[in-house]
Amino acid sequence: MRITVPRHRDLPRAKTSLKGWGVAAGVALVTGAMMVLAPAADAATTLGASAAQSGRYFGTAVPNSKLGDSTYSTILDREFNMITPENEMKWDATEPSQNSFSFGAADAIVAHATAHGQRMRGHTLAWYQQQPGWVQNLSGTALRNAMINHINQVMAHYKGKIYAWDVVNEAYADGTGGGRRDSNLQRTGNDWIEVAFRTARAADPAAKLCYNDYNTDGVNAKSTGVYNMVQDFKARGVPIDCVGFQSHITNSIPSDYQANLQRFANLGVDVQITELDVSGSNQAAVYGQITQACMNVTRCTGITTWGIRDSDSWRSGENPLLFDASGNKKAAYTSVLNALNAAGPGPSSSPSTGTSTSPSPSPSVSPSSQPSQSPPPSGGCTAAVSSVNQWNTGFTATIRVTAGSAGVNAWTVTANLPSGATITNSWNATPSGTSGTVRFTNLSYNGHIDGGAYTEFGFQANGNASGLTVSCSGS
Ligand code: G3I
Repeated sequence: MRITVPRHRDLPRAKTSLKGWGVAAGVALVTGAMMVLAPAADAATTLGASAAQSGRYFGTAVPNSKLGDSTYSTILDREFNMITPENEMKWDATEPSQNSFSFGAADAIVAHATAHGQRMRGHTLAWYQQQPGWVQNLSGTALRNAMINHINQVMAHYKGKIYAWDVVNEAYADGTGGGRRDSNLQRTGNDWIEVAFRTARAADPAAKLCYNDYNTDGVNAKSTGVYNMVQDFKARGVPIDCVGFQSHITNSIPSDYQANLQRFANLGVDVQITELDVSGSNQAAVYGQITQACMNVTRCTGITTWGIRDSDSWRSGENPLLFDASGNKKAAYTSVLNALNAAGPGPSSSPSTGTSTSPSPSPSVSPSSQPSQSPPPSGGCTAAVSSVNQWNTGFTATIRVTAGSAGVNAWTVTANLPSGATITNSWNATPSGTSGTVRFTNLSYNGHIDGGAYTEFGFQANGNASGLTVSCSGS
Protein backbone atom coordinates (compact mmCIF):
# COMPACT_ATOMS: atom_id res chain seq x y z
CA MET A 1 0.00 0.00 0.00
CA ARG A 2 1.23 3.49 -0.67
CA ILE A 3 -0.35 6.69 0.53
CA THR A 4 0.24 9.68 -1.68
CA VAL A 5 2.60 11.87 0.28
CA PRO A 6 1.65 15.53 0.20
CA ARG A 7 4.37 17.56 -1.45
CA HIS A 8 5.94 19.92 1.03
CA ARG A 9 4.19 22.96 -0.41
CA ASP A 10 0.84 21.19 0.13
CA LEU A 11 1.41 20.50 3.81
CA PRO A 12 -1.00 22.46 5.99
CA ARG A 13 0.43 25.75 7.14
CA ALA A 14 0.55 25.59 10.91
CA LYS A 15 1.30 29.24 11.42
CA THR A 16 2.76 32.04 9.36
CA SER A 17 5.94 31.57 11.33
CA LEU A 18 7.51 28.20 11.94
CA LYS A 19 8.26 29.10 15.55
CA GLY A 20 7.71 26.23 17.88
CA TRP A 21 7.22 23.50 15.29
CA GLY A 22 10.47 21.68 15.59
CA VAL A 23 11.58 22.65 12.13
CA ALA A 24 14.81 24.23 13.29
CA ALA A 25 15.83 20.90 14.67
CA GLY A 26 14.86 19.31 11.38
CA VAL A 27 12.69 16.85 13.23
CA ALA A 28 10.17 14.88 11.22
CA LEU A 29 8.22 11.93 12.46
CA VAL A 30 7.48 9.51 9.67
CA THR A 31 4.28 7.57 10.30
CA GLY A 32 3.87 5.10 7.48
CA ALA A 33 4.16 7.24 4.35
CA MET A 34 2.87 10.38 6.04
CA MET A 35 5.28 13.03 7.18
CA VAL A 36 4.27 14.88 10.30
CA LEU A 37 6.17 17.74 11.80
CA ALA A 38 6.90 17.02 15.43
CA PRO A 39 5.57 19.54 17.92
CA ALA A 40 7.87 21.60 20.08
CA ALA A 41 7.47 23.29 23.41
CA ASP A 42 4.42 25.45 22.68
CA ALA A 43 2.37 22.73 21.00
CA ALA A 44 -0.81 21.77 22.82
CA THR A 45 -0.53 18.75 25.07
CA THR A 46 -4.01 17.24 24.98
CA LEU A 47 -5.98 15.81 22.08
CA GLY A 48 -8.84 18.28 22.41
CA ALA A 49 -6.63 21.35 22.69
CA SER A 50 -4.43 20.19 19.81
CA ALA A 51 -7.43 19.61 17.56
CA ALA A 52 -8.89 22.97 18.55
CA GLN A 53 -5.81 24.74 17.19
CA SER A 54 -7.06 23.95 13.70
CA GLY A 55 -10.73 24.49 14.56
CA ARG A 56 -11.43 20.79 14.93
CA TYR A 57 -12.68 18.67 17.79
CA PHE A 58 -11.38 15.45 19.29
CA GLY A 59 -14.03 13.22 20.82
CA THR A 60 -14.77 9.82 22.21
CA ALA A 61 -17.67 7.46 22.76
CA VAL A 62 -18.83 7.45 26.36
CA PRO A 63 -21.07 4.95 28.15
CA ASN A 64 -22.95 6.41 31.09
CA SER A 65 -21.79 3.50 33.23
CA LYS A 66 -18.16 4.70 33.12
CA LEU A 67 -18.68 8.29 34.24
CA GLY A 68 -18.27 7.28 37.86
CA ASP A 69 -14.83 5.74 37.20
CA SER A 70 -12.45 8.51 38.22
CA THR A 71 -9.51 7.21 36.15
CA TYR A 72 -11.82 7.18 33.15
CA SER A 73 -13.45 10.56 33.72
CA THR A 74 -10.12 12.23 34.44
CA ILE A 75 -8.86 11.22 31.00
CA LEU A 76 -12.19 12.08 29.38
CA ASP A 77 -12.25 15.59 30.75
CA ARG A 78 -8.56 16.25 30.16
CA GLU A 79 -8.31 15.00 26.58
CA PHE A 80 -11.70 15.12 24.82
CA ASN A 81 -13.98 17.99 23.85
CA MET A 82 -16.71 16.05 22.03
CA ILE A 83 -18.76 13.14 23.37
CA THR A 84 -20.82 10.52 21.57
CA PRO A 85 -23.05 8.41 23.85
CA GLU A 86 -21.99 4.84 23.07
CA ASN A 87 -25.50 3.38 23.41
CA GLU A 88 -27.66 5.77 25.43
CA MET A 89 -29.25 7.74 22.55
CA LYS A 90 -30.12 4.70 20.45
CA TRP A 91 -33.78 3.89 19.81
CA ASP A 92 -33.95 1.00 22.30
CA ALA A 93 -32.59 3.25 25.04
CA THR A 94 -34.64 6.37 24.38
CA GLU A 95 -38.05 4.94 23.40
CA PRO A 96 -38.33 1.50 25.02
CA SER A 97 -42.08 1.45 24.43
CA GLN A 98 -43.94 3.38 21.79
CA ASN A 99 -44.18 7.09 22.49
CA SER A 100 -42.83 6.61 25.98
CA PHE A 101 -39.40 8.13 26.26
CA SER A 102 -36.53 7.38 28.60
CA PHE A 103 -33.76 9.95 28.55
CA GLY A 104 -32.13 9.42 31.95
CA ALA A 105 -28.86 7.79 30.90
CA ALA A 106 -28.36 10.05 27.91
CA ASP A 107 -29.25 13.13 29.95
CA ALA A 108 -26.52 12.19 32.43
CA ILE A 109 -23.95 12.18 29.64
CA VAL A 110 -25.20 15.50 28.28
CA ALA A 111 -25.03 16.97 31.79
CA HIS A 112 -21.44 15.76 32.12
CA ALA A 113 -20.57 17.31 28.78
CA THR A 114 -22.20 20.60 29.68
CA ALA A 115 -20.37 20.72 33.00
CA HIS A 116 -17.02 20.12 31.32
CA GLY A 117 -17.36 22.30 28.23
CA GLN A 118 -17.68 19.34 25.89
CA ARG A 119 -19.98 19.21 22.87
CA MET A 120 -22.20 16.29 21.90
CA ARG A 121 -22.63 14.15 18.81
CA GLY A 122 -26.04 12.49 18.92
CA HIS A 123 -25.95 8.81 18.01
CA THR A 124 -28.26 7.67 16.45
CA LEU A 125 -31.87 8.27 15.39
CA ALA A 126 -32.63 5.71 12.67
CA TRP A 127 -30.68 2.45 12.54
CA TYR A 128 -31.56 -1.13 11.76
CA GLN A 129 -29.86 -2.33 14.98
CA GLN A 130 -30.66 -1.65 18.63
CA GLN A 131 -34.31 -1.08 17.87
CA PRO A 132 -36.72 -1.82 20.73
CA GLY A 133 -38.91 -4.87 20.24
CA TRP A 134 -42.00 -2.85 19.41
CA VAL A 135 -40.16 -1.20 16.49
CA GLN A 136 -38.90 -4.56 15.22
CA ASN A 137 -42.54 -5.65 15.05
CA LEU A 138 -43.68 -2.68 12.95
CA SER A 139 -43.64 -2.29 9.19
CA GLY A 140 -44.92 -0.03 6.44
CA THR A 141 -46.66 3.23 7.28
CA ALA A 142 -46.79 2.43 10.99
CA LEU A 143 -43.00 2.06 11.12
CA ARG A 144 -42.44 5.13 8.95
CA ASN A 145 -44.62 7.22 11.25
CA ALA A 146 -42.93 5.77 14.32
CA MET A 147 -39.53 6.79 12.91
CA ILE A 148 -40.75 10.32 12.23
CA ASN A 149 -42.20 10.62 15.73
CA HIS A 150 -39.00 9.23 17.26
CA ILE A 151 -36.85 11.77 15.45
CA ASN A 152 -39.17 14.63 16.39
CA GLN A 153 -39.39 13.70 20.07
CA VAL A 154 -35.73 12.91 20.66
CA MET A 155 -34.45 15.93 18.77
CA ALA A 156 -36.95 18.17 20.57
CA HIS A 157 -35.71 16.88 23.94
CA TYR A 158 -32.11 17.68 23.03
CA LYS A 159 -32.75 20.75 20.92
CA GLY A 160 -29.85 23.17 21.13
CA LYS A 161 -27.62 20.67 22.96
CA ILE A 162 -26.34 18.55 20.08
CA TYR A 163 -23.63 19.71 17.68
CA ALA A 164 -24.31 16.96 15.14
CA TRP A 165 -26.74 14.06 14.91
CA ASP A 166 -26.08 10.75 13.21
CA VAL A 167 -29.57 10.92 11.75
CA VAL A 168 -29.20 7.65 9.86
CA ASN A 169 -26.68 4.95 10.66
CA GLU A 170 -25.42 2.07 8.50
CA ALA A 171 -28.08 2.04 5.78
CA TYR A 172 -25.82 0.71 3.02
CA ALA A 173 -25.00 -2.92 2.33
CA ASP A 174 -21.53 -4.44 2.41
CA GLY A 175 -20.19 -6.08 -0.73
CA THR A 176 -19.89 -5.03 -4.32
CA GLY A 177 -23.38 -3.76 -5.12
CA GLY A 178 -23.23 -0.30 -3.60
CA GLY A 179 -26.91 -0.51 -2.71
CA ARG A 180 -28.99 -0.18 0.40
CA ARG A 181 -28.99 -2.72 3.20
CA ASP A 182 -32.21 -4.63 3.59
CA SER A 183 -33.97 -3.65 6.84
CA ASN A 184 -37.42 -2.97 8.16
CA LEU A 185 -36.75 0.75 7.64
CA GLN A 186 -35.62 0.19 4.05
CA ARG A 187 -38.77 -1.80 3.36
CA THR A 188 -40.88 1.26 4.24
CA GLY A 189 -39.66 2.75 0.94
CA ASN A 190 -36.37 3.96 -0.52
CA ASP A 191 -37.15 7.52 0.54
CA TRP A 192 -36.91 6.70 4.26
CA ILE A 193 -33.46 8.29 4.60
CA GLU A 194 -34.60 11.45 2.89
CA VAL A 195 -37.66 11.61 5.13
CA ALA A 196 -35.46 11.14 8.20
CA PHE A 197 -33.20 14.03 7.21
CA ARG A 198 -36.07 16.37 6.31
CA THR A 199 -37.75 15.57 9.64
CA ALA A 200 -34.49 16.14 11.52
CA ARG A 201 -33.87 19.54 9.94
CA ALA A 202 -37.30 20.75 10.97
CA ALA A 203 -36.90 19.33 14.49
CA ASP A 204 -33.61 21.12 15.28
CA PRO A 205 -32.47 23.47 12.51
CA ALA A 206 -29.23 24.27 14.35
CA ALA A 207 -27.94 20.70 14.56
CA LYS A 208 -25.68 19.36 11.85
CA LEU A 209 -27.25 16.34 10.22
CA CYS A 210 -24.94 13.43 9.39
CA TYR A 211 -25.08 10.10 7.66
CA ASN A 212 -22.77 7.58 9.38
CA ASP A 213 -21.44 4.21 8.19
CA TYR A 214 -18.58 1.68 8.37
CA ASN A 215 -16.47 0.06 5.63
CA THR A 216 -16.76 3.33 3.76
CA ASP A 217 -13.18 4.32 4.60
CA GLY A 218 -11.83 4.06 1.05
CA VAL A 219 -13.27 4.45 -2.43
CA ASN A 220 -15.31 1.28 -2.78
CA ALA A 221 -18.77 0.19 -3.90
CA LYS A 222 -20.32 0.89 -0.50
CA SER A 223 -18.80 4.34 -0.07
CA THR A 224 -19.71 5.17 -3.66
CA GLY A 225 -23.30 4.20 -2.91
CA VAL A 226 -23.27 6.66 0.01
CA TYR A 227 -21.50 9.24 -2.17
CA ASN A 228 -24.21 8.97 -4.82
CA MET A 229 -26.88 9.45 -2.17
CA VAL A 230 -25.19 12.57 -0.78
CA GLN A 231 -24.69 13.95 -4.28
CA ASP A 232 -28.36 13.33 -5.03
CA PHE A 233 -29.43 14.94 -1.74
CA LYS A 234 -27.33 18.01 -2.49
CA ALA A 235 -28.74 18.25 -6.01
CA ARG A 236 -32.33 18.03 -4.77
CA GLY A 237 -31.99 20.16 -1.64
CA VAL A 238 -32.46 17.34 0.86
CA PRO A 239 -30.77 18.61 4.04
CA ILE A 240 -27.49 16.88 4.88
CA ASP A 241 -24.46 18.54 6.48
CA CYS A 242 -21.96 15.82 7.21
CA VAL A 243 -20.88 12.26 6.57
CA GLY A 244 -19.35 10.14 9.30
CA PHE A 245 -16.71 7.53 8.52
CA GLN A 246 -16.63 5.10 11.42
CA SER A 247 -13.13 3.80 10.69
CA HIS A 248 -13.09 0.59 12.69
CA ILE A 249 -9.72 -0.32 11.22
CA THR A 250 -7.92 -3.63 11.14
CA ASN A 251 -4.17 -3.35 10.47
CA SER A 252 -4.12 -0.63 7.77
CA ILE A 253 -6.19 1.97 5.97
CA PRO A 254 -7.04 1.94 2.26
CA SER A 255 -4.51 3.91 0.22
CA ASP A 256 -7.29 6.23 -0.94
CA TYR A 257 -8.53 7.01 2.59
CA GLN A 258 -7.81 10.73 2.30
CA ALA A 259 -9.03 10.93 -1.30
CA ASN A 260 -12.29 9.35 -0.19
CA LEU A 261 -12.78 11.95 2.56
CA GLN A 262 -11.96 14.65 0.03
CA ARG A 263 -14.44 13.49 -2.60
CA PHE A 264 -17.24 13.70 -0.04
CA ALA A 265 -16.01 17.09 1.16
CA ASN A 266 -16.08 18.25 -2.44
CA LEU A 267 -19.83 17.56 -2.48
CA GLY A 268 -20.25 20.35 0.10
CA VAL A 269 -20.56 18.34 3.33
CA ASP A 270 -18.34 18.18 6.39
CA VAL A 271 -16.65 14.85 6.94
CA GLN A 272 -15.86 13.40 10.35
CA ILE A 273 -14.14 10.29 11.62
CA THR A 274 -16.75 9.05 14.04
CA GLU A 275 -15.85 5.72 15.67
CA LEU A 276 -12.12 5.33 15.27
CA ASP A 277 -10.31 2.30 16.61
CA VAL A 278 -7.33 0.49 15.09
CA SER A 279 -6.01 -3.00 15.69
CA GLY A 280 -2.69 -4.47 14.59
CA SER A 281 1.03 -4.16 15.15
CA ASN A 282 1.28 -0.97 13.08
CA GLN A 283 -1.29 0.75 15.24
CA ALA A 284 0.60 3.92 16.10
CA ALA A 285 1.55 4.64 12.49
CA VAL A 286 -1.97 3.99 11.24
CA TYR A 287 -3.47 6.31 13.85
CA GLY A 288 -1.03 8.96 12.65
CA GLN A 289 -1.96 8.40 9.00
CA ILE A 290 -5.66 8.70 9.74
CA THR A 291 -5.22 11.87 11.78
CA GLN A 292 -3.01 13.35 9.07
CA ALA A 293 -5.58 12.50 6.39
CA CYS A 294 -8.24 14.37 8.35
CA MET A 295 -5.92 17.34 8.84
CA ASN A 296 -5.27 17.41 5.09
CA VAL A 297 -8.98 17.75 4.30
CA THR A 298 -10.24 21.20 5.22
CA ARG A 299 -13.77 20.00 5.81
CA CYS A 300 -12.72 17.11 8.04
CA THR A 301 -14.01 18.78 11.20
CA GLY A 302 -13.16 16.25 13.86
CA ILE A 303 -12.18 12.79 15.03
CA THR A 304 -13.90 10.58 17.59
CA THR A 305 -12.37 7.41 18.99
CA TRP A 306 -14.79 4.64 19.97
CA GLY A 307 -13.77 4.54 23.61
CA ILE A 308 -10.87 5.74 25.76
CA ARG A 309 -8.93 2.79 27.22
CA ASP A 310 -8.38 -0.55 25.53
CA SER A 311 -10.45 -2.08 28.29
CA ASP A 312 -13.39 0.16 27.34
CA SER A 313 -13.48 -1.03 23.75
CA TRP A 314 -16.24 -3.08 22.14
CA ARG A 315 -13.40 -4.90 20.29
CA SER A 316 -12.48 -7.03 23.20
CA GLY A 317 -8.92 -8.32 23.14
CA GLU A 318 -7.74 -6.16 20.22
CA ASN A 319 -6.46 -3.21 22.28
CA PRO A 320 -7.48 -0.75 19.56
CA LEU A 321 -7.58 2.54 21.51
CA LEU A 322 -5.19 5.35 22.54
CA PHE A 323 -4.89 4.51 26.27
CA ASP A 324 -4.03 1.20 27.87
CA ALA A 325 -6.22 -0.46 30.48
CA SER A 326 -4.50 1.50 33.24
CA GLY A 327 -5.11 4.80 31.47
CA ASN A 328 -1.55 5.31 30.25
CA LYS A 329 -0.98 7.02 26.91
CA LYS A 330 0.10 4.59 24.19
CA ALA A 331 2.42 5.23 21.23
CA ALA A 332 -0.70 5.69 19.12
CA TYR A 333 -1.66 8.63 21.35
CA THR A 334 1.61 10.37 20.57
CA SER A 335 1.15 9.78 16.84
CA VAL A 336 -2.26 11.39 16.95
CA LEU A 337 -1.14 14.31 19.10
CA ASN A 338 1.79 15.07 16.80
CA ALA A 339 -0.40 15.03 13.69
CA LEU A 340 -2.97 17.30 15.36
CA ASN A 341 -0.27 19.73 16.43
CA ALA A 342 1.20 19.89 12.94
CA ALA A 343 -2.09 20.99 11.37
CA GLY A 344 -2.80 24.53 10.34
CA PRO A 345 -6.00 26.55 10.53
CA GLY A 346 -8.75 24.25 9.42
CA PRO A 347 -12.49 23.92 9.27
CA SER A 348 -13.44 26.64 11.73
CA SER A 349 -13.76 29.00 8.77
CA SER A 350 -15.52 26.49 6.55
CA PRO A 351 -19.08 27.24 5.58
CA SER A 352 -21.61 24.47 6.15
CA THR A 353 -22.23 24.30 2.42
CA GLY A 354 -20.10 24.90 -0.65
CA THR A 355 -17.01 23.20 -1.90
CA SER A 356 -13.72 22.66 -0.18
CA THR A 357 -10.86 24.97 -0.88
CA SER A 358 -8.24 22.70 0.61
CA PRO A 359 -5.49 21.39 -1.63
CA SER A 360 -6.72 18.09 -2.93
CA PRO A 361 -4.44 15.12 -3.03
CA SER A 362 -3.82 13.23 -6.18
CA PRO A 363 -5.89 10.14 -5.43
CA SER A 364 -3.55 7.93 -7.39
CA VAL A 365 -2.55 4.66 -5.76
CA SER A 366 0.18 2.15 -6.26
CA PRO A 367 0.07 -0.42 -9.01
CA SER A 368 0.19 -3.24 -6.48
CA SER A 369 -3.55 -3.03 -5.92
CA GLN A 370 -4.59 -2.81 -9.56
CA PRO A 371 -6.90 -5.42 -11.07
CA SER A 372 -5.27 -7.60 -13.68
CA GLN A 373 -5.23 -5.89 -17.06
CA SER A 374 -2.77 -5.37 -19.90
CA PRO A 375 0.45 -3.71 -18.76
CA PRO A 376 0.21 0.00 -19.47
CA PRO A 377 2.38 1.45 -22.21
CA SER A 378 5.40 3.51 -21.16
CA GLY A 379 3.71 6.77 -22.18
CA GLY A 380 0.07 7.75 -22.06
CA CYS A 381 -2.53 5.83 -20.15
CA THR A 382 -5.02 3.00 -20.31
CA ALA A 383 -8.65 2.95 -19.14
CA ALA A 384 -10.74 0.07 -17.93
CA VAL A 385 -14.23 -0.30 -16.50
CA SER A 386 -13.41 -1.43 -12.98
CA SER A 387 -16.95 -1.90 -11.71
CA VAL A 388 -20.55 -1.59 -12.86
CA ASN A 389 -23.60 -1.60 -10.62
CA GLN A 390 -26.62 -2.27 -12.82
CA TRP A 391 -30.25 -2.07 -11.73
CA ASN A 392 -33.39 -2.37 -13.82
CA THR A 393 -33.39 1.20 -15.18
CA GLY A 394 -29.83 2.42 -14.82
CA PHE A 395 -26.28 1.85 -13.65
CA THR A 396 -23.18 3.38 -12.13
CA ALA A 397 -19.79 2.72 -13.67
CA THR A 398 -16.35 3.24 -12.20
CA ILE A 399 -13.53 3.78 -14.68
CA ARG A 400 -9.91 3.21 -13.74
CA VAL A 401 -7.28 5.34 -15.48
CA THR A 402 -3.79 3.83 -15.28
CA ALA A 403 -0.72 5.83 -16.28
CA GLY A 404 2.06 4.34 -18.36
CA SER A 405 5.47 4.11 -16.74
CA ALA A 406 6.28 7.73 -17.60
CA GLY A 407 3.20 9.03 -15.73
CA VAL A 408 0.77 11.65 -17.01
CA ASN A 409 -0.21 15.18 -16.02
CA ALA A 410 -3.57 15.19 -17.82
CA TRP A 411 -5.87 12.57 -19.25
CA THR A 412 -9.00 12.16 -21.31
CA VAL A 413 -11.09 9.01 -21.34
CA THR A 414 -13.34 8.45 -24.32
CA ALA A 415 -16.38 6.40 -23.37
CA ASN A 416 -18.67 4.91 -25.97
CA LEU A 417 -22.02 4.60 -24.25
CA PRO A 418 -24.43 1.91 -25.37
CA SER A 419 -27.49 3.07 -27.29
CA GLY A 420 -30.12 4.41 -24.89
CA ALA A 421 -27.67 5.09 -22.06
CA THR A 422 -27.79 8.70 -20.77
CA ILE A 423 -25.48 10.07 -18.09
CA THR A 424 -27.25 11.75 -15.18
CA ASN A 425 -24.25 12.62 -13.02
CA SER A 426 -20.54 11.96 -12.70
CA TRP A 427 -17.70 12.34 -10.21
CA ASN A 428 -13.94 12.95 -10.32
CA ALA A 429 -14.02 13.87 -14.07
CA THR A 430 -15.83 16.29 -16.39
CA PRO A 431 -17.93 14.74 -19.17
CA SER A 432 -18.32 16.42 -22.58
CA GLY A 433 -21.91 15.25 -23.03
CA THR A 434 -24.46 12.75 -21.80
CA SER A 435 -24.82 10.10 -24.51
CA GLY A 436 -23.04 8.44 -27.42
CA THR A 437 -19.32 9.18 -27.41
CA VAL A 438 -18.49 11.10 -24.23
CA ARG A 439 -15.03 12.40 -23.36
CA PHE A 440 -14.20 12.61 -19.64
CA THR A 441 -11.35 14.92 -18.71
CA ASN A 442 -9.52 14.97 -15.39
CA LEU A 443 -10.20 17.53 -12.67
CA SER A 444 -7.43 19.74 -11.33
CA TYR A 445 -6.52 17.41 -8.50
CA ASN A 446 -6.40 14.07 -10.30
CA GLY A 447 -4.76 14.89 -13.64
CA HIS A 448 -1.33 13.90 -12.40
CA ILE A 449 -0.86 10.15 -12.06
CA ASP A 450 2.52 8.68 -11.25
CA GLY A 451 3.94 6.05 -13.60
CA GLY A 452 2.08 2.77 -13.14
CA ALA A 453 -0.38 4.26 -10.62
CA TYR A 454 -4.07 4.87 -11.24
CA THR A 455 -7.00 7.05 -10.36
CA GLU A 456 -10.71 6.40 -10.75
CA PHE A 457 -13.76 8.38 -11.77
CA GLY A 458 -17.34 7.36 -12.28
CA PHE A 459 -20.74 8.22 -13.60
CA GLN A 460 -24.37 7.28 -13.20
CA ALA A 461 -26.59 6.74 -16.23
CA ASN A 462 -30.04 5.66 -17.25
CA GLY A 463 -30.18 2.58 -19.45
CA ASN A 464 -27.97 -0.48 -19.71
CA ALA A 465 -24.19 -0.66 -19.32
CA SER A 466 -23.78 -3.66 -21.59
CA GLY A 467 -21.39 -2.75 -24.41
CA LEU A 468 -19.74 0.19 -22.62
CA THR A 469 -16.17 0.68 -23.87
CA VAL A 470 -13.48 3.13 -22.74
CA SER A 471 -10.09 4.26 -24.00
CA CYS A 472 -7.55 6.74 -22.64
CA SER A 473 -5.20 9.38 -23.95
CA GLY A 474 -2.78 11.16 -21.64
CA SER A 475 -0.03 13.73 -21.74
O1 G3I B 1 -26.53 -3.21 29.07
C1 G3I B 1 -26.72 -4.60 28.81
C2 G3I B 1 -26.55 -5.41 30.08
O2 G3I B 1 -27.53 -5.05 31.01
C3 G3I B 1 -26.62 -6.88 29.74
O3 G3I B 1 -26.33 -7.63 30.87
C4 G3I B 1 -25.62 -7.24 28.65
C5 G3I B 1 -25.77 -8.69 28.24
O4 G3I B 1 -25.31 -8.91 26.93
O5 G3I B 1 -25.86 -6.42 27.52
C6 G3I B 1 -25.72 -5.03 27.79
O6 G3I B 1 -25.97 -4.33 26.59
C7 G3I B 1 -24.95 -4.37 25.63
C8 G3I B 1 -24.56 -2.94 25.30
O7 G3I B 1 -23.63 -2.90 24.24
C9 G3I B 1 -23.95 -2.21 26.49
O8 G3I B 1 -22.77 -2.83 26.87
C10 G3I B 1 -25.48 -5.04 24.37
O9 G3I B 1 -25.71 -6.42 24.65
C11 G3I B 1 -24.50 -4.90 23.26
O10 G3I B 1 -25.11 -5.37 22.07
C12 G3I B 1 -24.14 -3.45 23.06
O11 G3I B 1 -23.17 -3.36 22.06
C13 G3I B 1 -23.02 -2.11 21.46
C14 G3I B 1 -23.17 -2.24 19.96
O12 G3I B 1 -22.95 -0.99 19.34
C15 G3I B 1 -24.55 -2.71 19.59
O13 G3I B 1 -24.70 -2.79 18.22
C16 G3I B 1 -21.64 -1.58 21.79
O14 G3I B 1 -21.56 -1.29 23.18
C17 G3I B 1 -21.36 -0.30 21.00
O15 G3I B 1 -20.02 0.04 21.16
C18 G3I B 1 -21.63 -0.55 19.53
O16 G3I B 1 -21.44 0.65 18.83
C19 G3I B 1 -21.60 0.57 17.42
C20 G3I B 1 -22.12 1.90 16.94
O17 G3I B 1 -23.29 2.25 17.65
C21 G3I B 1 -22.40 1.88 15.45
N1 G3I B 1 -21.22 1.45 14.70
C22 G3I B 1 -20.61 0.21 15.17
C23 G3I B 1 -20.30 0.28 16.66
C24 G3I B 1 -19.57 -0.95 17.11
O18 G3I B 1 -20.35 -2.11 16.98
